[in-house]
Amino acid sequence: MFEVQSARARGEIVNAQPKDRVNILMVDDQVGKLLSYEAILAELNENLIKATSGREAMEILLKNEIAVVLMDVSMPELDGFELADLIRQHPRFERTAIIFVSAVHLTDLDRLKGYQRGAVDYISVPVVPELLRAKVSIFAELHRKTRDLEMLNFELRCLSARLISTQDDERRRLSREMHDGFGQDLAVTKMALDKIAFADDSPHWVRETATKASDVVFGVIQQVRSMSYLLHPPMLDEIGLKSALEWYLDGLSKRSGIELETEIQPPNFPRFSADVETTLFRIVQEALTNIIRHSGATQASVSLFGDQDHLVLSVQDNGKGVSEKVTEFRPDRMGVGIGGMRQRVKQLGGELRIVNTNPGTLVQVKIPTTVAARREESVGA
Ligand SMILES: Nc1ncnc2c1ncn2[C@@H]1O[C@H](COP(=O)(O)OP(=O)(O)OP(=O)(O)O)[C@@H](O)[C@H]1O
Ligand SMILES: [Mg+2]
Repeated sequence: MFEVQSARARGEIVNAQPKDRVNILMVDDQVGKLLSYEAILAELNENLIKATSGREAMEILLKNEIAVVLMDVSMPELDGFELADLIRQHPRFERTAIIFVSAVHLTDLDRLKGYQRGAVDYISVPVVPELLRAKVSIFAELHRKTRDLEMLNFELRCLSARLISTQDDERRRLSREMHDGFGQDLAVTKMALDKIAFADDSPHWVRETATKASDVVFGVIQQVRSMSYLLHPPMLDEIGLKSALEWYLDGLSKRSGIELETEIQPPNFPRFSADVETTLFRIVQEALTNIIRHSGATQASVSLFGDQDHLVLSVQDNGKGVSEKVTEFRPDRMGVGIGGMRQRVKQLGGELRIVNTNPGTLVQVKIPTTVAARREESVGA
């Protein structure tokens, strides 16, 4: 404790986190050899696990997360290569590092045999302690880094899922506040102005000014309403995706001047869970915003098909197309738009494709209907 405090006082960085140990499995039929590996590797400060046969090693592997397997090539029951084969057959261990220890001289052919089985390294007997430590510690470190990366990736995925749902909630809240707050206040203001505008006992200039002000307020009411609806169309919750899309696409084609074709099948399009409907609506919104901003297209089409197995949404334009870097989802070419689409689709277990159709671009989303639980079923469940 005192040491830590004084180190802090000296401005040094204190590594308070103990090393996150990894498991190293040592396999050899001779207990004496296992003890000597243990003595050599002790200073790495990792968890050392011993197994005296291939079978025992397999049992340990199945029950634990192993970073490195250190094994003897020649064992009586199941030799090292056979065990390596067994290990590699299991999908969980495809990437587990294996170091073979061999007392016999390994010809190049033997090495090749090992590498074909996914082996990663060899060490020959007599074992040089420093060399064995170096090899094991490299793989242990690699495993630790991979594990940290996987954990970071998982945290990032959770964070972006939370961000998307917070953004949806915030849009819904803002939309309601704009509609019920500003919208109502503006309506009251307009009523008051109309009262003045139609009051016979008011001077002409007052009535004229009130009429003009009322017209301006009317325009603002319209703007607030459409901003509120664009943030989150109320019909998306109340009536469903089909109506919300038809309303949105109709308004957009009038505002943008782009010729828009829409096809939604089946005509009595069923309701889906709120996250599926919101996801598809937001993807159409983002894909069309991209078309207007980037494509230079004059025509676009939106189609949504639902059957027993999948929901398929396609947004196609006749514009200049996208670069390969965008279709490959290269992080340096993706903005929040495509990144968000991808994240939303992934969360629902679906696929997103962006294809350069020459001319134009196709954005296509496929979501399995098992995930895209129908609203009736999810409500009834
Ligand atoms: N329909 C399209 N036609 C042509 N280029 C497109 C189209 N859609 C996307 N792009 C290209 O893909 C890039 C990434 O799109 P993305 O929506 O991720 O980001 P953005 O629109 O640039 O910014 P934002 O983060 O505001 O969405 C765009 O900058 C554009 O170059
Ligand atoms: Mg965009």
